[in-house]
Amino acid sequence: MVQTGGHDAQRDLQGFFMRGMMLAGGAGTRLFPLSQVVSKQLQPVHDKPMIYYPLATLMSAGIRDVHLISTPHDLPVFERLLGDGSQWGIDISYGVQEKPEGIAQAVILGESFLREEPFTLILGDNIFHGPIGLEAEVLEFRDGALIWGYPVEDPQRYGVIEIDDSRRVLSIEEKPDRPKSKLAVPGLYVYDGTAIARAKELKPSQRGELEITDLNLSFLNDRMLRAVELDPEITWLDSGTHESLLDSSNFIATVEKRQGQKVACLEEIAYQKGFVSIEAIRQTIQKMPSSPYRTYCERAILG
Ligand code: G1P
Repeated sequence: MVQTGGHDAQRDLQGFFMRGMMLAGGAGTRLFPLSQVVSKQLQPVHDKPMIYYPLATLMSAGIRDVHLISTPHDLPVFERLLGDGSQWGIDISYGVQEKPEGIAQAVILGESFLREEPFTLILGDNIFHGPIGLEAEVLEFRDGALIWGYPVEDPQRYGVIEIDDSRRVLSIEEKPDRPKSKLAVPGLYVYDGTAIARAKELKPSQRGELEITDLNLSFLNDRMLRAVELDPEITWLDSGTHESLLDSSNFIATVEKRQGQKVACLEEIAYQKGFVSIEAIRQTIQKMPSSPYRTYCERAILG
C-alpha cells in the first residue's frame, strides 16, 4: 500500500490521528529583560523563532493536529506567526493559560481538543536535533505514558528518572537536590486519554504549579510509565536561560552552515511529509519576503 506520509500511516494503524499539544506559557523570568515583551518561546534561536523547533518535531512525527497553549498576552503573537497551519498542511488551534500554573494544568486546559485520546505533549522551549524516533513511538503507542531520558551534567535542573537494567522506571523526581541519576526528562511526553483525569487529581507543588512530573508519577504508580533513553547522537537543548539560548543558537547555526541544510524548516518538512503539494508550497514561498530563508526554501524544495 502506498503511504504518502505519517498522517496516512497513523490512520491505517490506529484509526485516528494522534494530536499534539505545545505549551508556550510560563513567565520566562530567567530570560529577563528579553522576556519582558517577547515570550521565551518566540525568542530567536539562530534564524527562526524558538517555537518552530518543537513544531518541527511534531510535524516530523506525522502529527498534523496541533493545539498551542500560551498566555493571554502572548497568544495573539503566536497566532500571527503560525496562523491556522494550513500553509504547512496542518491544523493549529489555540488555547489560553491565564496564569503560569504548571505544565500539567495545560493538559486539563486542552481537554476538549484532546478528546480523551492519546496525544503528544511538547514544551515550546525544547529543541531536538537528530532521529528521536517519535513517529515510530506514536504509531506503536497504545496506552500509559511514554517519556524519554537524556544524560546531562546538571540533572537537578530537570525532572530526573532512575531506571533499572530492563529499562523499568524506578523513580521520577522534579528538580531533586540530590539526583538519583543523570537522566533528565526532556519536555516531550506521549500520554493516553487518562492523562486529563489524572491531571485533575493533582495538587499544586510548592512552586504553585501542577507538575508534569506528578502526572508522570501517577502513571508510574499504576506501572503505566515507560521511558526510552535518547540516543547520545541526538542533541536535546532547552533554551530557558541566556546561556542555553546562546548555546542553542550557536548549535543550530553550526549545524546549518556545516550541512547546508536548515533545521526545522517547516515548509521543507511539510513537503517531505506529503502534507502539502508542490504547488501549494510554491505559493507559500512566493509570499515570503526576499530573505535567506526564502532563498533556502526555493533551493531546497523547488529545486
Ligand atoms: C519542565 C519540567 C521538567 C522537565 C523540563 C524539560 O521544567 O517540569 O520535569 O525536565 O521542563 O525542559 P521547567 O521548564 O518548568 O523548569
